[in-house]
Amino acid sequence: MAERTGAELFFVRIRFRSWLYSGVEVIIQPDKETAARLVARILASDLRAKPQLVLGLATGGTMESVYQNLVRMHREEGLDFSHCQTFNLDEYVGLTAADPSSYHHYMHHHLFRAVNVAAGNTHLPEGTAANLDEECRRYEALVRQAGGIDLQLLGIGKAGHIGFNEPLSALRSRTRVKALAPATIQQNAPFFGGEAKVPRRAITMGVGTIIEARRCVLLATGDSKADVIAQAVEGPITSMVSATALQLHPRCTVVVDEAAGAKLKEKEYYRWIFANEPEWEGYR
Ligand code: GLP
Repeated sequence: MAERTGAELFFVRIRFRSWLYSGVEVIIQPDKETAARLVARILASDLRAKPQLVLGLATGGTMESVYQNLVRMHREEGLDFSHCQTFNLDEYVGLTAADPSSYHHYMHHHLFRAVNVAAGNTHLPEGTAANLDEECRRYEALVRQAGGIDLQLLGIGKAGHIGFNEPLSALRSRTRVKALAPATIQQNAPFFGGEAKVPRRAITMGVGTIIEARRCVLLATGDSKADVIAQAVEGPITSMVSATALQLHPRCTVVVDEAAGAKLKEKEYYRWIFANEPEWEGYR
């Protein structure tokens, strides 16, 4: 291997240190398009560095533009998904893969059909399994067999959940069935044509499962997420807001647009880090 110069070693050391100690880093982007593009670029860069990447995927309206960007990168830049494996966070109980409101369908529609990921390498919990507890255990074992998740993509519910980890989800919880909170049912009602049609339960990776991922990247956009982002990033860690568990993670990047970041107290500090830290050099 070629010898590194002193300057190179300096930056390698800074990078290594920031991975070890940084915890949550917040990146504020001007608008939701730029924020989604940045998340897609982070994911693409990790995928290029490790083609066998184990990717944790999320659903919801916010993620749609991340997947649009990944599809464009696949078409225009040859971003290759052929060696990666994917694990989704969650699925509604009772919905078949063919149901247009299921997360199976969402993932197929927004990403899987448009990139070269092998069908056998994409995984979601089966919401129609005869034995749901057994299905949760199978899913956990599958993640373990794959060697754990390298990069977990996350959105955030208006009440602060990651996956479907509703208020009072144990911070060490594993994949299991959760009853959906009224706020979640309300938030997802537009995807079902009314609250009455939203399933009341879902299988979700646990908070413990999620924060075991080697890297977490959370995307939130729009003013409806401003309160919950301030709580998740700068508030006290509490099982009432499962996203606060990300503060325990050694390498979590939270990407927001100006609207979702509006209520953060330390905005100027976060902006300085993004503008100056060598880790973000290629992303500015
Ligand atoms: C659902 C998903 C979450 C996601 C949330 C945000 O509740 N289970 O994983 O983070 O939606 O959705 P949206 O991006 O539509 O606000």
